Amino acid sequence: MANTPVTADLGPATALVCRECGATRDLGPFYVCDECFGPLEISYDFGGVTRADIESGPRNIWRYRGLLPVPSDVASTPNTEPGLTRLVRADNLAEALGLQKLWVKDDSGNPTHSFKDRVVAVALAAARELGFKVLACPSTGNLANAVAAAASRAGIRSAVFVPSNLESQKIITTAVYGGTFVTVDGNYDDVNRLASEIAGEQDDWAFVNVNVRPYYAEGSKTLGYEIAEQLGWRLPDQIVVPIASGSQLTKIDKAFQELIKLGLVEDRPYKVFGAQAAGCSPVSAAFKAGHDVIRPVKPDTIAKSLAIGNPADGPYVLDVARRTGGAIEDVTDEQVVEGIRLLARTEGVFGETAGGVTVATLRKLVEGGALDPSAETVIINSGDGLKTLDAVAPVVAPSANIAPSLEAFRAAGLA
Ligand SMILES: Cc1ncc(COP(=O)(O)O)c(C=O)c1O
Ligand SMILES: [Zn+2]
Repeated sequence: MANTPVTADLGPATALVCRECGATRDLGPFYVCDECFGPLEISYDFGGVTRADIESGPRNIWRYRGLLPVPSDVASTPNTEPGLTRLVRADNLAEALGLQKLWVKDDSGNPTHSFKDRVVAVALAAARELGFKVLACPSTGNLANAVAAAASRAGIRSAVFVPSNLESQKIITTAVYGGTFVTVDGNYDDVNRLASEIAGEQDDWAFVNVNVRPYYAEGSKTLGYEIAEQLGWRLPDQIVVPIASGSQLTKIDKAFQELIKLGLVEDRPYKVFGAQAAGCSPVSAAFKAGHDVIRPVKPDTIAKSLAIGNPADGPYVLDVARRTGGAIEDVTDEQVVEGIRLLARTEGVFGETAGGVTVATLRKLVEGGALDPSAETVIINSGDGLKTLDAVAPVVAPSANIAPSLEAFRAAGLA
């Protein structure tokens, strides 16, 4: 299968195009350019998609199926139906940080509680069309949950590979769905390398973020579409996005660009900011040094979902931040924990460590003057705090432990 183009219904997708040299090739299970080994991405002929087309669609990401590489009847095939998560008006957090207008796009509301359900839903639909039989991935945790769940609902086999030192919550919430689930003694970059090798041998395995990556990555565009639609078909002035491979950030930018080109939103400037943990900040380091090349690092941070030391989309993240006038910043693990608590205390939203990275980065960007506090800002909470309980367990506790009596309550001085 590895080298044959296929006849498939992939909606408005027309070709694959190299992000480096611009060479194009037919749609198929390809992810690397034959000319220069650059990564491939999808190009489209959208025709005339209107707001009304989208608004009359399903209340999940398939309302944007006309903008995705999926069959037009995708909504009628079993999948996890993620999307249309809350855009939370965050006035309390805004006040705490000195911002005027802030929103949290809370993607913990997806079926397996992270934004990865979006990318997997698109990857699954495309992988089926391309004739793959097994849904597979290397993962830092959330993708493992999403792949195992989607495959079980679709009635196909999954094969998931993760670093063995992952959070126990992510191990349990992946194992529960069944499927083949392998922990590997190595970091994510080791697991990713192993996945590429297996993909080279197993022709009918769709590694969603390796050999089906061009299709998979497009799922993150739906975050950008939803934010614009939920703001009343408007782009925010600024957005802060967590970075692991960097794909989510570059695809939100791609979504905004597409909406502008399609005339679905007004063409106005917006700035894209990236967030990393200091213990895994290769993109932030390159941004600050003014480099175009990312120097890989060995991750050491509690933000394990973002612990990719050699991020595939790193150089493209730099391009987006520089082109839009944004920036990339990184924060310490202590600041990550404080970010999780701040979001929870001010808005009742319990984010995972990636959300803590984003909130703490927002704070640092405001305090450092890189981000305009008077401009409308959106931040992404990409996963659920219940998946990374250990990060906050040492710093939170009940107010008191009392006997079940009014006297004990009075004595505790809680009134
Ligand atoms: C919760 C969470 N947020 C953000 C990301 C970053 O995604 P990307 O690899 O697209 O940069 C990940 C990646 O695993 C994640 O799990
Ligand atoms: Zn190329």
